[in-house]
Amino acid sequence: MKPLSVGLLGLGTVGSGTLKVLLRNRDEIERRIGRPIVITRIGVRSLDKARAITQNMGVDIPLTQDLSAVTKADDISVVVEVMGGTTTARLAVLDAINAGKHVITANKALLAEHGNEIFAAARQHGVMVAFEAAVAVSIPIIKALREALAGNRIEWVAGIINGTTNFILTQMKQHGSSFTDALKQAQLLGYAEADPTFDIEGIDAGHKATLLSAIAFGIPIQFSRAHIEGITQLQAIDITYAEKLGYRIKLIGIARRSEQGIELRVHPSLIPENCLLANVNGAMNGIMIKSDAAGITAYYGAGAGSEETASAVVADLVDVARLELADPQHHVPHLAFHAESLNPIPVLPIGDIHTRYYLRIPVKDEAGVLAAITKLLADQMISIDAMLQRTSSHQGGNAGTDVIIVTHGAQEARIDSAIAAIQALPAVSAQVVRLRVEDLDQVAMH
Ligand code: NAP
Ligand code: HSE
Repeated sequence: MKPLSVGLLGLGTVGSGTLKVLLRNRDEIERRIGRPIVITRIGVRSLDKARAITQNMGVDIPLTQDLSAVTKADDISVVVEVMGGTTTARLAVLDAINAGKHVITANKALLAEHGNEIFAAARQHGVMVAFEAAVAVSIPIIKALREALAGNRIEWVAGIINGTTNFILTQMKQHGSSFTDALKQAQLLGYAEADPTFDIEGIDAGHKATLLSAIAFGIPIQFSRAHIEGITQLQAIDITYAEKLGYRIKLIGIARRSEQGIELRVHPSLIPENCLLANVNGAMNGIMIKSDAAGITAYYGAGAGSEETASAVVADLVDVARLELADPQHHVPHLAFHAESLNPIPVLPIGDIHTRYYLRIPVKDEAGVLAAITKLLADQMISIDAMLQRTSSHQGGNAGTDVIIVTHGAQEARIDSAIAAIQALPAVSAQVVRLRVEDLDQVAMH
């Protein structure tokens, strides 16, 4: 049978991993699909760098800086985009689609920002756009949501979906590394994005949560409406207090369906310490899905890395090889639901979400402070689940008291009103810290 002829755009961490896995597992892959997968041409920026990589792998594949020599080549039927970025990558992917080629990409930024346009073009040209590597690399989460759980109504998806930030938090907690050192290490290991602010500010996780929300609920891709907070504002003292209360803090991406709309958010969250996600460490990712028939399912695996990501890219190549000649009507819909059935359910403003909260309120140690705080919470109908009071030494050198409160479920707008009122109390000596608490239906590890 004719080999599947592939054009590769990018030969960095993911591109070189893809080439390596395809070469190493050539026979095993061919046994699965009945024909070889061959990289026919590689588009890159630096020819010298790419030549050194291909020579090192013992292959002689034509290299080019002219991306259209890949995207428009008659002898190529699949283009794998692993360059990153949203400008050149968008044009290259659209060029490939317009030339009738299937596309595989690991580029979540591209799909979160331009996915609606790219998938519409792909539908028009009857080609596949596969993106398993774009979310939680070695975990087949796109396939799980789009195919394995296709009989379910999905209620929520929540997970640790950025390897870099999870690696940083773990290095800081378990090895006492500084934030800066841990980030540098993540960059050296090839985990971080070209612009690491995408990782540490939660944007990369926001891209991934947006894609998961679209395929979980059959809604258009709405990245601009996602609420995103990273880990740069997180303070060590809150990690310590959270632990005393039986929680660990993780950067979590959440897509949840409620009666009012869709919650789509990424932020540091307190997770009960016996919950599966609280025990996902290093660059690993963990995702939980709650659906009506299957119940809660959980997924764990590497969240970043060269061959780990290549594993997903090659799996997409295998899918394309199997379905390449099928009628487009028999392809799995890009976003799990037929395009004409997408439902424009609104993504809710963050003030409308409903969850539990952790508050750290730095106060002067005076009589009546606690009563004043609990009254202001009660005014907003917020009830308290747990409370801790600790003498603090971190308030600018002045010893004071930290009042730490974990609430029951409340609407975020009410919490914000209560915090504003608490902040105005004369006894409150510094900024009130608010973090969200996610119980994830209390699925525990035993
Ligand atoms: P990388 O190591 O920086 O490699 C990028 C490659 O693309 C390099 O070969 C680079 O060439 C080439 N390139 C970049 N811009 C180009 C342009 N305008 N024209 C031609 N070639 C260009 O990046 P990566 O880590 O492999 O990531 C690639 C993509 O995969 C990104 O979308 C990323 O978000 C995604 N991803 C990465 C991981 C991971 O663990 N690293 C995991 C999942 C998804 P030069 O070296 O010559 O500049
Ligand atoms: N920078 C990303 C992460 C790569 O750390 O998760 C994998 O998408």
